[in-house]
Amino acid sequence: MKKKIILDCDPGIDDSLAIALCCSSNEIELRGVTVTHGNVPLNQTLDNALALLSFLGRDVEVYAGAIRPLVRSPIDASNVHGNNGLGGVRLPPHNRKPNAKGAVEFIINEVMANPGEIGLFGIGPLTNIALALRMEPRLADAVAEIVIMGGAIGEGNTTPAAEFNLYADPHAARIVFESGRLTTMFGLDVTHKALATAERLAPLKHMGNKVADLVLRFLESYRGFYADVYGWESPAIHDMCTIAWAIDPSLFQTRKMRVEVDTNEGLNLGRTVGDSLLRNADAALVDVALDVDADDLFALFAERVARY
Ligand code: BDR
Ligand code: CA
Repeated sequence: MKKKIILDCDPGIDDSLAIALCCSSNEIELRGVTVTHGNVPLNQTLDNALALLSFLGRDVEVYAGAIRPLVRSPIDASNVHGNNGLGGVRLPPHNRKPNAKGAVEFIINEVMANPGEIGLFGIGPLTNIALALRMEPRLADAVAEIVIMGGAIGEGNTTPAAEFNLYADPHAARIVFESGRLTTMFGLDVTHKALATAERLAPLKHMGNKVADLVLRFLESYRGFYADVYGWESPAIHDMCTIAWAIDPSLFQTRKMRVEVDTNEGLNLGRTVGDSLLRNADAALVDVALDVDADDLFALFAERVARY
């Protein structure tokens, strides 16, 4: 059976890869793309989502969401994704417009009209999903699952304690974790193992298709950050892990943990604290992805990009 999902994102280079994988995979029915502030401000993430879907030739509706976090001042990750959020890569002009409905309204309407059927995949700061949970208290019971790229049981990437999506809106993340419906978390523990090495990207090089070429250009621009900051030759494709898992969960190893989000100002703001001994029965019980067969993940991705 197809997984019906709403993808909540902030494109973003790795978000764009996730969208491209989603739109070429018939295991997934993408019901809509909701957009949030995050890697760059909302006006830019929104235009990136529209331009990318136009480039991919997919008629998926796009909904504009929150322009800023619930409580904190906005931050961005333009140091990673460039000022345009796509590493300076320019997509062709397009004439797509966002749907008149807002992201939060769409999430609520779509999930409530299809109880138990729609999964929410959050690959940016979780502001839109948190607002939807707050505005419609029955949403938590009606949603099939919530899956996120975010957090880290180990070291963070934005602060030593926190990963970007969690740090950008820790209060929203806490609402999502406490909803009881967050089933699966792809944090840095696993996404830093999904590196786009030259070997893994080799099949894209000779594909002679415009999406493969775009992916290679995106990743080229992304490479600098990982080289400068981590000393790695290859960048991590974080967000794409969630979609690869939706297609083939056997690519990943997960462990059940109780996970809590720290929303106190200070050293640990936005930290996800995981407990594999499951001590606090009130904390979210989450499958935390810890390992991935990265060669197989990239083989799947290449096979799907070849479909464009
Ligand atoms: C996450 O932060 C963003 O920069 C990426 O798009 C990804 O969602 C990785 O920490
Ligand atoms: Ca993202």
